[in-house]
Amino acid sequence: MAYTKRFGKIGKMKSITFLALTVIMASHSMSMSAQSQTGTATITFQERKGETTISRHIYGHFSEHLGHCIYDGLWVGKDSEIPNIDGVRKDVFDALKQIRIPNLRWPGGCFADEYHWMDGIGQKRAKMVNTNWGYATEDNSFGTHEFLNMCEQLGTEPYVCGNVGSGTVEEMSKWVEYMNSPNESPMTELRKQNGREEPWKVTFFAVGNESYGCGGNFTAEDYATAYRRYQTFCRNYNRGYLKKVASGPSVPEDYHWTETIMSRIPADMMWGFSLHYYTIPGPWEHKGSATEFTRDDFFRTMAYALNIENAIVKQDSVMSIYDPEKKVAMVVDEWGTWFDVEPGTNPGFLFQQNTMRDALVAALTLNIFNNHADRVRMANLAQVVNVLQAVILTNGSRMVLTPTYHVFDMYKVHQDACLIPTTVETATITDGQWTLPQVNASASVDADGCMHLTIANLSPDKECQVNCPISSDYKRISQSQLLTAKNIADHNTFESPNNVHLSTFDKATLKKGALTFKMPAKSVVMIELK
Ligand code: AHR
Repeated sequence: MAYTKRFGKIGKMKSITFLALTVIMASHSMSMSAQSQTGTATITFQERKGETTISRHIYGHFSEHLGHCIYDGLWVGKDSEIPNIDGVRKDVFDALKQIRIPNLRWPGGCFADEYHWMDGIGQKRAKMVNTNWGYATEDNSFGTHEFLNMCEQLGTEPYVCGNVGSGTVEEMSKWVEYMNSPNESPMTELRKQNGREEPWKVTFFAVGNESYGCGGNFTAEDYATAYRRYQTFCRNYNRGYLKKVASGPSVPEDYHWTETIMSRIPADMMWGFSLHYYTIPGPWEHKGSATEFTRDDFFRTMAYALNIENAIVKQDSVMSIYDPEKKVAMVVDEWGTWFDVEPGTNPGFLFQQNTMRDALVAALTLNIFNNHADRVRMANLAQVVNVLQAVILTNGSRMVLTPTYHVFDMYKVHQDACLIPTTVETATITDGQWTLPQVNASASVDADGCMHLTIANLSPDKECQVNCPISSDYKRISQSQLLTAKNIADHNTFESPNNVHLSTFDKATLKKGALTFKMPAKSVVMIELK
């Protein structure tokens, strides 16, 4: 089934072909029993091998010059009456600190391939038209200094996306030099004149975005050639290894793009290879409302979201032909739900609400990333504030944390922990054509020896009795959290910001080597064992 994404008057087109919608289970993680009336699941943990670390960068976010993500979202400027830290909203800053945001991608997305970084430095900034996103005027008041200073204060690693589509090799090369070089040169002099003596430390750098489409409509062959050339001049500047990321395929089942990139670009030129995966549960023109949806819409959303595992497994198998040692990271640097914009808002600004359904998409996706952490070493939810599946929404001086935010808060325990491979035997849930696993899970052990288990119950109306045999190394439940809601479409609003909130989960017991608990319908649980 192929849908065409058309950006209305924005005039941008690309195709998304959805994967076949039978939910394909990766053999390592899950087997499904027949439809169960009781909603039971058994989760078993494999011997800890200590081989795979769940990179904290799986928990990354994405900020594009799009709608109100940057302006009024992250950035209000120093002179704003809204409390801010050097122009960055304080409420948003504090919220991002709380979830330990590990990296932030910027300035796009499609915007990146029209962005000329020199317009966004110095006292006098050139204006431009944001042709991808609503033809809004971009005044470039948020540029390299504002972004990198913000990342530094947040303690998050910047992930900068360079312009291949409409930029030159020289422009990209000088940007990296401006940001990272400690040496004396015209670029570093310019940086100093603009108020920054020491270089920043940009670690992650993408050589273009969606280069098959909005990033320049390259063929795979032409992009591979361009990539090799552009990346050559993105130097390391004594600041450690610059992790360069190549643009990925247009659809998850485009294996030709992957084969071409993997066969033509050696691993020492490419730290990572990008994959974009959006959950869009309807045709492009009618993706569906974020808050008003049927049971069928709900099941379709879960089915599409679960299929990211199929995309990862298949893309990984192609990557592994050329890179069996998994040196090249899969970087899922855009993922999340994409619904119709909220009624009355600018269609080019992609502002959507966020319900308990989105929280389940986030939980199951992060579990899948964790379980494939040997290849998936970075990911970025699209997008951090006010755009698509945002963790934060703002309106004037008000801010609200979405249900998806709370999932990132619960799951931060997995950052840089050691993956514990799990086997999930679960009841299925059924609606019309959809048959899905009721439960999805992942587990890890952190540096202090604490084990963390995160589980999503995808049923909108059925509890699930979960049983987990536990090694005698763990003696007690030291922490447990629950995210659920009365209705699957419940969400937080500026008037009612705590409709969907985290609470303590007191239903789990650890006795005689078995962890048991009953999960409410449509819920996410995090359990810590010591
Ligand atoms: O996240 C919104 C857009 O989706 C990005 O700009 C682009 O890369 C993708 O098509």
